[in-house]
Amino acid sequence: MKNTKKFFVTTPIYYINDVPHIGHAYATFAADILARYYRQKGDKTFFLTGTDENSQKTVLAAEKARKNIKAYTDSLANKWKDAWKKLGISNDDFIRTTETRHRKVVEEIFKQIDKNGDLYKGKYEGLYCVGHEAFLKEEDLDEKDLCPDHKTKPDYIVEENYFFKLSKYQKPLLKHFKENPDFVQPPERYNEVVKFIEGGLQDISVTRQTQKWGIPAPNDPSQVIYVWFDALINYISADPSKWPADLHIIGKDILRFHAVIWPAMLLSAGYELPKKVFAHGFFTINGQKISKSLGNAIDPIKISEEYGTDALRYFLFKEIPFGNDGDFSSERLREVYNAGLANGLGNLVARVAKLCEKSKVTFKVDRSSLEFKLGETTKYALCLNDLNFQGALEEIWRRYRQLDHYLEKQKPWEIEEKGKLKPVLEYAVSEIIKTNELLKPFLPETAERIAKQFLQKKITSSIALFPRK
Ligand code: ME8
Ligand code: MG
Repeated sequence: MKNTKKFFVTTPIYYINDVPHIGHAYATFAADILARYYRQKGDKTFFLTGTDENSQKTVLAAEKARKNIKAYTDSLANKWKDAWKKLGISNDDFIRTTETRHRKVVEEIFKQIDKNGDLYKGKYEGLYCVGHEAFLKEEDLDEKDLCPDHKTKPDYIVEENYFFKLSKYQKPLLKHFKENPDFVQPPERYNEVVKFIEGGLQDISVTRQTQKWGIPAPNDPSQVIYVWFDALINYISADPSKWPADLHIIGKDILRFHAVIWPAMLLSAGYELPKKVFAHGFFTINGQKISKSLGNAIDPIKISEEYGTDALRYFLFKEIPFGNDGDFSSERLREVYNAGLANGLGNLVARVAKLCEKSKVTFKVDRSSLEFKLGETTKYALCLNDLNFQGALEEIWRRYRQLDHYLEKQKPWEIEEKGKLKPVLEYAVSEIIKTNELLKPFLPETAERIAKQFLQKKITSSIALFPRK
């Protein structure tokens, strides 16, 4: 039977006032694991990431770099593209919100929302934080009247803006949430959003009168469209034929935009809603918040150069249950690397290869084990369906540990008779090849090296996959 399933997964599109840090890599790796898994299953997969460029932050960063804004956005967008390439990200497309394909769809959706009677002109007076690209209330500020996250003084704005009738969508949104208990995950985030919507929704201002940088509002080109209103539409504008998305992966910081404003916009414009929004947690570095002023942002490429990208992926998804907050520290990375990769997988693979090399046993390459099912009902598949990456990794490592025990029991290094040795080694090799199929989405480079080494008639030793640190 032909597989007609599809899987469309997105990451947030990132602001380009800086280069990627480990938090951005985290969300992008998560989407990459899933994209690789669904591709491997044969589903029609589309993995989208990109950059959010129409922000005031972009203008400020370009000024600071003393660059013209076009040159600045081009150079930064290229840095993000390069970073994902270096980190082996398998995205199928990369959307920039300064592209024409994006602007066209934003204009279209804006007009549809207007036509539907959901835009009106009103006066906005209030505090605006550029860091958040969002309005703040007095009670949100800290004791020094600063934005508690960015430690900056918000701007006081008085403007004539267009407003979107978000309030009108309170009931339809609640209905959608009730009918789709998986719409927002994990469950505590779902409850948080439902509570927020039940508390009442206020209309939001969706244009800016005083800004120049951005997409002009089609109904009033003297205003530009609010950056969040434009940014969310990237998920459609990249390729309208792919909509709806099956999964938006985001951090918990931008949950309301994705679980309240975005679905309301879609309802208004007459589009289907995404199937699921998953908000992951935030991590700290050695217990501290990642912040520019502390200068503690970790460069994922540096770690990848020291440990390998696969080691970073292994650490992030083994160590932190997806959805929870976590902490990153170099010590913990080294510990987890040495335990699970150098001593665990690396040792096992080296040991089996060495036994094969010494024994001179030849293998018939069993292609059928390559079709080893990423089955629908295996525990591994169930874990990935729930974005339980830790559980899926545990399944893989359980198989490796089982093979370790098998070897300890059989002691192939003590078997002299070739006829008795061969089936033991054959079993070990087939287990490695099978489990390798499960490993592929998580540790793609490693899985490729293992496949090259073990899909040979004569298996030989090679350099260590994970040298001890
Ligand atoms: O919000 N821990 O972009 P952004 C874990 N352009 N993840 C983190 C993190 C941390 N400490 N810091 C950032 C924007 N992230 C908008 C999105 S989408 C239509 C527009 C990750 O560059 C996390 O996934 O600020 C978070 O949601 C995202 O980076 C925000 O990236
Ligand atoms: Mg941010």
